[in-house]
Amino acid sequence: HRHIDHATPETARAAVEAGETHPVIPDYEAFGTYRAAGGYSALERLREGGDWEAVQETVLAAGLRGLGGAGFPSGRKWGFVRANPGPRYLAVNGDEGEPGTFKDRHYLERTPHLFLEGMLIAAWAVEAERVFLYMRDEYPAVLEILRRELAALEAAGLIAPGYVELRRGAGAYICGEESAMIESIEGNRGIPRHRPPYVAQVGVFGRPTLVHNIETLHWVARICREGPEVLSATEKNGRKGLRSYSVSGRVAEPGVYLLPAGSTIRDVIDAAGGMAEGHVFKAYQPGGPSSGLLPAHMDDIPLDFDTLQPHGSFIGSAAVVVLSDQDRARDAALNMLRFFEAESCGQCTPCRVGCEKAVKLMQAESWDRALLEDLCDVLADASICGLGQAAPNPIRLTMKHFGDEI
Ligand code: NAI
Ligand code: SF4
Repeated sequence: HRHIDHATPETARAAVEAGETHPVIPDYEAFGTYRAAGGYSALERLREGGDWEAVQETVLAAGLRGLGGAGFPSGRKWGFVRANPGPRYLAVNGDEGEPGTFKDRHYLERTPHLFLEGMLIAAWAVEAERVFLYMRDEYPAVLEILRRELAALEAAGLIAPGYVELRRGAGAYICGEESAMIESIEGNRGIPRHRPPYVAQVGVFGRPTLVHNIETLHWVARICREGPEVLSATEKNGRKGLRSYSVSGRVAEPGVYLLPAGSTIRDVIDAAGGMAEGHVFKAYQPGGPSSGLLPAHMDDIPLDFDTLQPHGSFIGSAAVVVLSDQDRARDAALNMLRFFEAESCGQCTPCRVGCEKAVKLMQAESWDRALLEDLCDVLADASICGLGQAAPNPIRLTMKHFGDEI
């Protein structure tokens, strides 16, 4: 595995003490360096007469899937968007809000131009008239980096002034849901839309819109520069490709680890330097709170798209949180539901009322299983968006695997 180092509160504090002002801008690969190493030549080649369908084929051959968490085949989206008449838009989802997820930030603070070149390749592929880049405001250093580097791209003539519009999210988790993000971009309150129609048909200001996550676009650039093998050549436990696991919790070295997509939780913990001293592995969240908690003995499952569904979970954005013998699964599950309660947009009753009710029921010394199961069914069946639909996962998995705690 490749270990990628990460900023810690200590290094940030040291930087502030050394006189740097907030936000502290990390060392990153700026435009000049990226360009000198051949950056943007893939984009220029394509713009000079490339065939978008050939690029789509390459992206599909690489096996690239949506790394915001849903895993939809990225190349297929291009076809959906192109099937609709222009003007078309590209909206980039940088509202990385899933608790435990920090991979997009990791890449943006190191190699922003891989993402930016991938973004412009995707925009070229669907002939996007404009690009909306929606970034969470909690990443001030990233925002500053993007401001600087977009200006550099404009100065170099690679994009027209204003072609890419940088938008700041205001901290609502739900604005990372693609249709709520689009509402927010339009200046409305961020609440999810019903589907269909999909955003590929009716997106920003009613126009066909391609929506991609930051890391997905990072890989589009790498695939165009290095070939589909950059992902497809890695194989492990019957799975192809690579995953950027954001690892936190009771491990020795929390951080982002780029590992084969077939990695198990044991591989991920090993990559993160093993368990933190004095902690014994007990449970893990594989991919954000919506994926719930699995017990330590389920340690041979490849942490990839499709592999966790039979176990009532999913990989999502690969936000792995490791719990130890010093944690209670029921406390972690309650924390997850409190998060959903706070972040529910309130648009639909099952989620607005259901998350609040679940929190109350989970605070009881002994859980009312029958009532909680009933509530889980309603949440999963009747919620409009993924927040409410997946909120039952931590409840169900805690009841299934940690029955002695509840
Ligand atoms: P989804 O499966 O509904 O959609 C995925 C993408 O495919 C969307 O862009 C959608 O428009 C497109 N799509 C799906 N079917 C389509 C069709 N028939 N035609 C055209 N386009 C189609 O999933 P959703 O709700 O967008 O994402 C859920 C995931 O988001 C979860 O797995 C969760 O892990 C992740 N998530 C990630 C967060 C983060 O911070 N990275 C935060 C919260 C959730
Ligand atoms: Fe809003 Fe929750 Fe309904 Fe999603 S499920 S639309 S977050 S109330």
